[in-house]
Amino acid sequence: MKRVIVCLCVFLAVLGFSACRNKAQIKHREQSAVMLTTSAPSLQSQGNNASDGLKTEGQGRILVAYFSCTGTTEKIARSAADMLDADIYRITPEIPYTQADLNYNNPSSRGNREQNDPSARPVISGSVEGMGNYDTVLLGYPIWHGQAPRIISTFLESYDFGGKTIVPFCTSHSSGMGSSGTNLHGLCPDTVTWLSGKRFPADASNEIIKEWIDSMDIPAAGAHNVGTFDFETRTVLLNSGYEMPIMGLGTYSLSDEQCVDSVTALLEAGGRLIDTAYMYHNEVAVGQGVRESGVPREEIFVTTKLYPNQFDNAAEAIDEALEKMDIGYIDLMLLHHPGTNDVEAYRAMEQAVKDGKIRSIGLSNWYVKELEDFLPQVTIMPAVVQNEIHPYYQENDVIPYIQDLGIVVQGWYPLGGRGHTGELLGDGTITAIAAAHGVSPAQVILRWNLQKGVVVIPGSSNPDHIRENLDLFGFSLTEEEMARMNALDRNEKHDWY
Ligand SMILES: NC(=O)c1ccc[n+]([C@@H]2O[C@H](COP(=O)([O-])OP(=O)(O)OC[C@H]3O[C@@H](n4cnc5c(N)ncnc54)[C@H](OP(=O)(O)O)[C@@H]3O)[C@@H](O)[C@H]2O)c1
Ligand SMILES: Cc1cc2nc3c(=O)[nH]c(=O)nc-3n(C[C@H](O)[C@H](O)[C@H](O)COP(=O)(O)O)c2cc1C
Repeated sequence: MKRVIVCLCVFLAVLGFSACRNKAQIKHREQSAVMLTTSAPSLQSQGNNASDGLKTEGQGRILVAYFSCTGTTEKIARSAADMLDADIYRITPEIPYTQADLNYNNPSSRGNREQNDPSARPVISGSVEGMGNYDTVLLGYPIWHGQAPRIISTFLESYDFGGKTIVPFCTSHSSGMGSSGTNLHGLCPDTVTWLSGKRFPADASNEIIKEWIDSMDIPAAGAHNVGTFDFETRTVLLNSGYEMPIMGLGTYSLSDEQCVDSVTALLEAGGRLIDTAYMYHNEVAVGQGVRESGVPREEIFVTTKLYPNQFDNAAEAIDEALEKMDIGYIDLMLLHHPGTNDVEAYRAMEQAVKDGKIRSIGLSNWYVKELEDFLPQVTIMPAVVQNEIHPYYQENDVIPYIQDLGIVVQGWYPLGGRGHTGELLGDGTITAIAAAHGVSPAQVILRWNLQKGVVVIPGSSNPDHIRENLDLFGFSLTEEEMARMNALDRNEKHDWY
């Protein structure tokens, strides 16, 4: 009989493990740490109520990571994750703990042996995707002989937690958190902010958990906020309410045939964002590539731009672009750079939004001063600002300013622009980081942009490069690598706008 009960318990525990693992997988998302604030309330956001999800502070996502054998810690972890709208991750041992393993009355049980051996590091099955995108990690565990189970040490030693905030919490029969938090803190880099933890009894109510969460002042992470890069869908939600892919193809200098071929290569490879402009003389080719691709129009996002010589007659120029591309509507239209009558041209784009000709509008080559002058004169907040951004010209002061307005930043010349790509792609720092990840220097530069919350539109007529430039999600740069990339800034502009 006893054996039957033990088997039943083990079976239920295993069932519980796998059920929870599935739930965790469903909820888990990889997110970048770009949350935006808005400070231009006089401007309306485009389209619907997309700005409702804006944060009042610029915070990244929260992860609740927990280890639990008999469900007590798991219950607290799930409540906390729900309250914070955080992602959740179950720390799952490669070899599950049996009831015998957990028998704390038996000195030679696995649990007791591990707790007696400070160097024990039980192996974890699976890993957190995109840990770099979390700012705050709530870390839950049961107390085992006054300490955290050694698998928590394995977890802390498996990732770079530098710069993150870790909040420990635990459950136990009766013991407090004791020195468990302090000992775990010792396994982390100095740059971790380690908050004092909390112990919960098995019957902790939701009110108690809520009180604890409120006391820490951790902002809830919205599921999908304006400006937040979603690395799973590879899109960002614009303030217009439309989703835009975060990586795509630039078509500057691509002649007609080259342009059709490149658009075709992009769409075949799964890319969905195309950047053109009146001045590139290839809007017709872009439209042709889109129409002939067989990819549903709604899946593709096309940006074009009005050049200053069109500003006097912007309404006509918008119709001309629509006619040339012949793709029904324009996803995003930008003013190419400031010029005479730019406010009037922007107002014409605002009217075209109302008329359903354009979905989102924005600016290109507008910097802090230009935006300060321009924004009070228009009604619809730009959805995107597209500026020159590459490792030698980083705009580290301009990017946050624009993002804080709830505007998505897109970078042109991500690889330095023609004539400069050799130097950038051969840069010692960039090639070293590329070698460390087994990727190309171009991929490192593009990934660096994405991790800064900058959308990339590298230009290329080479299908291999086009494919490579979309393949940015199998690796991520550590904070140290991001810092090395940031240190390459020379304020060296490669074009005049
Ligand atoms: N708003 C503005 O004022 C403005 C200004 C300039 C550009 N833009 C936009 O930004 C886009 C990007 O700029 P861009 O095209 O001029 O310059 P870029 O993207 O910095 O560089 C393009 C160059 O990089 C090469 N390249 C691309 N992928 C590569 C890879 N994986 N490995 C090695 N080389 C690679 C291309 O050669 P291959 O063809 O051989 O691949 C091409 O020579 C433009 O196409 C345009 O849409 C906007
Ligand atoms: C090996 C082992 C050692 C334990 N040591 C303690 C302890 O020192 N103090 C205590 O109050 N509870 C102790 N417990 C009880 C657990 O901390 C408690 O049941 C916890 O809530 C279980 O969490 P879980 O259901 O998430 O696995 C121990 C349990 C095990 C399995």
